[in-house]
Amino acid sequence: MKFCDILSKIVPISLLLLSPADGDLFSKATRTKADERDVRNSVFDFIIIGGGTAGCLLANRLSAVSDWKVLLLEAGIDENIDYDIPGVPSKEYRPILWNYRTERNGYSCLSRPGGSCEVKTGKVLGGSSVTNDMKYTRGSKVDYDGWHSTGALASLDWKFDAVLEHFKSIEDNGDYDVLMNSHYHSRGGDMHVQRFKHVDRYMEVFTAGFTEMGLRTVDINTNVQEAVVNNQFTIFNNTRLSTNSAFLKPVRHRKNLQVITGAYVSKIVIDKQENNVDGVIYEVEKGKERPAYAKREIILAAGAINNVRLLQLSGIGPKADLKRHNITMIADLPVGHNYQDQVTIGGLAFVLSDVPVVTEAEVINDFKTWFQNRSGPLASRGIGQVSAFIQLYENFNAPDVELALEGNFIRSDKFMLTNVSVHAAEETNLPLPYYNLVNINPVLLRPKSRGKVMLNKRNPKYGRPVVQANFLKETEDLDTLVDSIDIALQLLDTKEFKKADIKFAPLDLFPCDRLSNRDQWNCIARHYTKAMSNPVGTCRMGENSTNSVVDYQLRVHGIEGLRIIDASVMPTHARAGIFAPTMMIAEKGAKMIIKDWKENNGHYYNRR
Ligand SMILES: Cc1cc2nc3c(=O)[nH]c(=O)nc-3n(C[C@H](O)[C@H](O)[C@H](O)COP(=O)(O)OP(=O)(O)OC[C@H]3O[C@@H](n4cnc5c(N)ncnc54)[C@H](O)[C@@H]3O)c2cc1C
Ligand SMILES: *[C@@H]1O[C@H](CO)[C@@H](O)[C@H](O)[C@H]1NC(C)=O
Ligand SMILES: *[C@@H]1O[C@H](CO)[C@@H](O)[C@H](O)[C@H]1NC(C)=O
Ligand SMILES: *[C@@H]1O[C@H](CO)[C@@H](O)[C@H](O)[C@H]1NC(C)=O
Ligand SMILES: *[C@@H]1O[C@H](CO)[C@@H](O)[C@H](O)[C@H]1NC(C)=O
Ligand SMILES: *[C@@H]1O[C@H](CO)[C@@H](O)[C@H](O)[C@H]1NC(C)=O
Repeated sequence: MKFCDILSKIVPISLLLLSPADGDLFSKATRTKADERDVRNSVFDFIIIGGGTAGCLLANRLSAVSDWKVLLLEAGIDENIDYDIPGVPSKEYRPILWNYRTERNGYSCLSRPGGSCEVKTGKVLGGSSVTNDMKYTRGSKVDYDGWHSTGALASLDWKFDAVLEHFKSIEDNGDYDVLMNSHYHSRGGDMHVQRFKHVDRYMEVFTAGFTEMGLRTVDINTNVQEAVVNNQFTIFNNTRLSTNSAFLKPVRHRKNLQVITGAYVSKIVIDKQENNVDGVIYEVEKGKERPAYAKREIILAAGAINNVRLLQLSGIGPKADLKRHNITMIADLPVGHNYQDQVTIGGLAFVLSDVPVVTEAEVINDFKTWFQNRSGPLASRGIGQVSAFIQLYENFNAPDVELALEGNFIRSDKFMLTNVSVHAAEETNLPLPYYNLVNINPVLLRPKSRGKVMLNKRNPKYGRPVVQANFLKETEDLDTLVDSIDIALQLLDTKEFKKADIKFAPLDLFPCDRLSNRDQWNCIARHYTKAMSNPVGTCRMGENSTNSVVDYQLRVHGIEGLRIIDASVMPTHARAGIFAPTMMIAEKGAKMIIKDWKENNGHYYNRR
């Protein structure tokens, strides 16, 4: 059923369209008081679809304008304290994830279940900022500058020097040595960023090992090419700060802001004649449709995969894809093309010696300490706090790979490591701070391979979208990963590692066990590929509708009143995670919206 059909049962849609945008909206109609309340309650100035990383920040900024009524619709549930403990590994997050998988392709993810890789994004208020690793990395100047397009003046606003102010206006940096560089950092924003205070012995050893190899310990967020980093995280008082806790919780009492959780948006309703948006249809229960009407704008922030589903179901997408599903086309745009995710591999691990077995009682006690005092080992991410950013090629002044570290505890009776599979080495058994094995995940920061997201063939509305990730399709991606392994292996030759007796872990690398050297690493990369779940690009911003979905003001080409503001608009990765960049995009997007409506004195493209 269409939005108009549902709403017109309550009040004729023509009346809504003709009415001025003020409190007198329905005064001319003859209806009961209850009817009036229902309609009034479903009409908003702005509707934000997706209460994720970007959505929660947007809800804060837009509802700060007190005459605007804002609705935030989130498919997941409210966040709970279990996800706030920094030391809890992310496998505990399954119930609040969209568990998607990439399509099998015969050249990557080969030894993963079904020959495909998992892609996990958050389905909860706060979105992936509740399920992610909280690492605060912004990326490199060269990549932001590369988003520039000579034919579009507005693209200049996305150059690094221009976006820096938006990173800073969100930021409340708690580390004084970092803060001293006031060109890059600031205080007083809503998002607290800080290093964990808890540092263990092996974090020191790995840092010293990388330092011995020539890496400096500098702030990675200052456009450096290489560094070994004790990363900053989005935490406050050793507690996770999702965008829900940083931006939404403090303003949920606002009377002009309504938040509905468990609300799955199934359609954006667009007026075909006018090519402008009317509102959305959402479902709190499967099949039970409810309308909401937007007087000013609809903002899509459902993430790079779910945006594709919703746009295509609403008639916005590549002509051929829509036709295949018999969806009436409203705009022919490359929605779902240009999919990119960062990729890493399992299989490279080091064994630590003389790590005592931790008892259950100790772990329980450490949980108590965290709950009572927000301290102890669980107030940390263990070895995951350290990573090394390395530049392999001279092309740009920027890193190519992040060697990200991940600890795991393998019980001593299993410590015949020839029997430990790559999978077992990755599947964390204990909270992150307890580990005797360190996986080194080389993360390809700026992948070349491009993929595509499409609707589920049998069940386009509720089924998992088809994610054709094409990991390692470009051999350059494979070569970069394998080149970085050579560097990671040099750690074993450092004095620090020898002194600490850290050894290469002889994991069971079937079916790559018979190979050696580069052939073996190529095989491992193709078999034990791992998605970082940092998807971008499916609604990329750009100059025109042939190469992009939104313009540089994040407005969908050819549709009035619809913006997309989240990671999906990034044309490429910026050689970092996408958490901080997504917050920056939302902050900048909110400022653009406020500016547009102010300058046009409320009359924006003659809408309403
Ligand atoms: C395991 C993991 C670890 C990560 N670690 C890091 C890290 O340490 N550092 C870093 O920089 N990046 C990291 N990332 C990436 C980063 O956190 C996210 O990709 C980024 O925050 C994405 O933000 P977003 O706003 O685009 O999407 P999301 O935050 O995923 O938000 C989308 C929201 O929309 C909702 N939604 C979707 N469809 C609908 C619908 N139809 N109706 C209603 N609501 C809907 C979803 O439930 C979700 O809440 C990590 C990602 C993962 C998965
Ligand atoms: C699309 O419509 C055609 C013709 O009505 C029909 O044969 C086909 O099965 C439909 N396809 C889908 C995916 O609904
Ligand atoms: C919390 O801190 C107080 C004061 O330092 C201490 O007495 C108490 O034992 C701590 N609680 C836990 C569970 O560690
Ligand atoms: C940190 O959390 C603890 C435990 O809830 C609380 O007692 C303490 O006041 C908090 N500190 C700050 C600065 O909020
Ligand atoms: C692997 O484990 C099995 C028992 O699970 C054992 O029989 C075998 O000897 C082990 N192989 C190696 C190489 O340790
Ligand atoms: C669209 O923009 C790209 C540059 O981003 C340009 O190469 C192309 O010619 C443009 N297409 C049209 C139809 O203007």
